[in-house]
Amino acid sequence: MATSKRMTVPAIRDHCCSGAASAAAVEPLVMVTAYDAPGARIADEAGVDMILVGDSLAMVVLGYEDTLQVTVADIAHHTAAVARVKPAALIVADLPWMSYHVSTEETVRNAAELIRAGAQSVKLEGGRKRLPMIEALISAEIPVMGHLGLTPQSLHAMGGYKVQARKSEAALELLADAKALQHAGCFSIVLEGVPDEVARMVTESLDIPTIGIGAGGQCDGQVLVFHDLLGLEDRVPAKFVRKYASLKDDAVSAVRRFAEDVRSGAFPDDSESYHLSEQQAEALSLYGSPS
Ligand code: KIV
Repeated sequence: MATSKRMTVPAIRDHCCSGAASAAAVEPLVMVTAYDAPGARIADEAGVDMILVGDSLAMVVLGYEDTLQVTVADIAHHTAAVARVKPAALIVADLPWMSYHVSTEETVRNAAELIRAGAQSVKLEGGRKRLPMIEALISAEIPVMGHLGLTPQSLHAMGGYKVQARKSEAALELLADAKALQHAGCFSIVLEGVPDEVARMVTESLDIPTIGIGAGGQCDGQVLVFHDLLGLEDRVPAKFVRKYASLKDDAVSAVRRFAEDVRSGAFPDDSESYHLSEQQAEALSLYGSPS
C-alpha cells in the first residue's frame, strides 16, 4: 500500500495552469496505464500522479487488435485489481466504446460501475458531441477526463491511427472542443496524436491540465502505456514511445534459462527442495521403497 498522500481530482485540476508564467513554475503531471495489482504497485512506487486503467487493456493485455472489443465489465475487473493496491496516484478508468454513446442514463450507470470498482474518475473520448454525457456524469458527481485528437475508439471513422488536427481549421475545431469540455467541467484533457503547435495552443488556452501522448512537450503532463515504456510489447512502437526498459527480452531469456535448467536437471537443487527430518527419513526407510 502507498504511504504518501492520495492524489485527488481537485489537486490535478488545479495543478497548473492559467498563464504561461505559472505553468512554467510547476512540474508536469505524470500518468501511466496499469491494469493489475503488480502494475499499479510499480507505477505507484515510481511516484506517478495518475494511473489510467486504459482501454488499451484490449490490445496490450487481452490480445485484441483494437480497443473496440473491451467491455465495461473488463475495465471494471481490472480497475478493481488496481484499486486493491490503494495507490496514492489518482485512478482514472476508461469508459469503453459504446458505453457512453447510447444515452445519458446508460453512460452514468456504466461510469458508476467503474467508480464502484475503485476508480476515482473516468475518461471518455470525443468533443462537443459528448457534452450531454459529460454533463450527466458531472451532475452525478463523477469526475471526467476528456480525450481529444487521435481517439483510438474512432479508428474506423478516422481511417486508421492518424495524427489529427494537422490543418488550421481542424486545429481550431479541436480547440473549440477542448474549451467546451473544460466549460462542461472536465478536470483534465488527454491530447493524443496532435502536432506540438496545436497541443501548445490548446494547453495555453485552458485552465485545466492537458496530458499529452504523441502531442509534443508543451502539455501540462504526459502519459504512456505501461507495456510500451517497459518494452513488454511486440508491436512496433509509435514514434512518441520512449522505451525505458526491454522487459520482454529479459522475461524471455529468464523463462528460457528456467526451461534449460529443468531439462538439464539443474533445477531444483537441494536448497530449493524440502527434506524430512533424519528421524522421519529413517522411519520411512523401514517401509522400504515402493515396488
Ligand atoms: O487506453 C489508453 O491507454 C489511453 C492512453 C493512450 C491515453 O487512452
